[in-house]
Amino acid sequence: MIDHPTRDAGFGVYVHWPFCASKCPYCDFNSHVRHQPVDQERFLAAFSQEIAHTAARIPGRTVTSIFFGGGTPSLMKPDTVGAILDAIGGAWSIDPNAEVTLEANPTSVEAERFRGYRHAGVNRVSLGVQALNDPDLRRLGRMHSVDEALAAVKVAASIFERYSFDLIYARPDQTPQAWGEELERAISHAVEHLSLYQLTIEPGTWFERLYQAGKLTVPDEETGRALYDVTQEVCERRGLPAYEISNHARPGAESRHNLVYWRYGEYAGIGPGAHGRLVTGNARLATATEKHPETWLERVEREGHGVIEEEVLTSEAEGDEFLLMGLRLKEGVDPRRYEAFTGKPLNERGLRILREEGLIRIDGTRLSVTEKGFPVLNAVIAELAA
Ligand SMILES: C[S@@+](CC[C@H](N)C(=O)[O-])C[C@H]1O[C@@H](n2cnc3c(N)ncnc32)[C@H](O)[C@@H]1O
Ligand code: SF4
Repeated sequence: MIDHPTRDAGFGVYVHWPFCASKCPYCDFNSHVRHQPVDQERFLAAFSQEIAHTAARIPGRTVTSIFFGGGTPSLMKPDTVGAILDAIGGAWSIDPNAEVTLEANPTSVEAERFRGYRHAGVNRVSLGVQALNDPDLRRLGRMHSVDEALAAVKVAASIFERYSFDLIYARPDQTPQAWGEELERAISHAVEHLSLYQLTIEPGTWFERLYQAGKLTVPDEETGRALYDVTQEVCERRGLPAYEISNHARPGAESRHNLVYWRYGEYAGIGPGAHGRLVTGNARLATATEKHPETWLERVEREGHGVIEEEVLTSEAEGDEFLLMGLRLKEGVDPRRYEAFTGKPLNERGLRILREEGLIRIDGTRLSVTEKGFPVLNAVIAELAA
């Protein structure tokens, strides 16, 4: 039996903390506000149980990265984070160089916990800064000011070897010039990694209601394109080129956890609404857990896990996912892995046409999407997989 073509891309563990202090009006993540304190001990027991259950299905792995995402994981007590890391270490072995990231909101209260997270074993934080001007932070419903965010970045820099922060651009009324200046300032505080997301109006959010009512306007397509171009230009000039559509890093400082997803590795999804891709034998399972936090909790307590969807991916679905994830990366994919998943080569005609149109490039064993191809990525993938 040949080894599954997923193994060498690493094994990551994603842990979802589903609570936030308040709900941002643009956000459709699985995040909830509770007016009573969350029983962290009870959640911890359920996380540990789900970790043990997953490890029984895929034993003997070496964990190369761990990511606490949310929601707002920086609302967890450092002891809770430490105990979850212990549970992961008890279930699998953890690579001594594993990247352990925690998403944090940059308020002063949360920054006070950073040292505790470091002691617990976290070695990288990802801060949701979102904007470097106060009126926009207010419009985004954020609970921090620019000064507070930059103070949190400073604390993070003094405690963690590695940190990143997120910004949202293409905000209402934002001009390419103003964004370029804001980005320059952001980069002067970023050492190695930035995630830069174009604002999307997500279904079911407060922003969608405002948008539908004509009370919120976002930059038109042309301005959106200009904002994207400014992003690439500034980041490249300042030594943080894009390695994925929305992620920029100094070469070598890429988020290893996200690379597990994009290089189509194996990962366990722990906690409410977490997704996983588990390799058992030669099959790849797509798993998803119950989203609602307390329902998930009760389910784990009752059944030992919160998985409510589980599907063995067909080789065709694996090939499609592999392309969908891998072509988001500047480095692209090795087409031989597509063949190993699906048993067939990429569509010859599609390859020729896309290459002639300048949407893809082929360099030795790498196939990647060009600058021109990124805005039409889905169409490129459809053509290749046809
Ligand atoms: C789970 S949140 C990050 C952690 C933390 N809860 C925070 O907000 O600071 C992940 C990131 O997705 C981005 N994001 C969320 N909703 C978005 C939207 N509608 N459009 C663009 N980016 C969005 C934000 O930059 C956010 O930091
Ligand atoms: S953006 Fe972050 S803080 Fe705001 S609701 Fe979403 S997950 Fe919570």
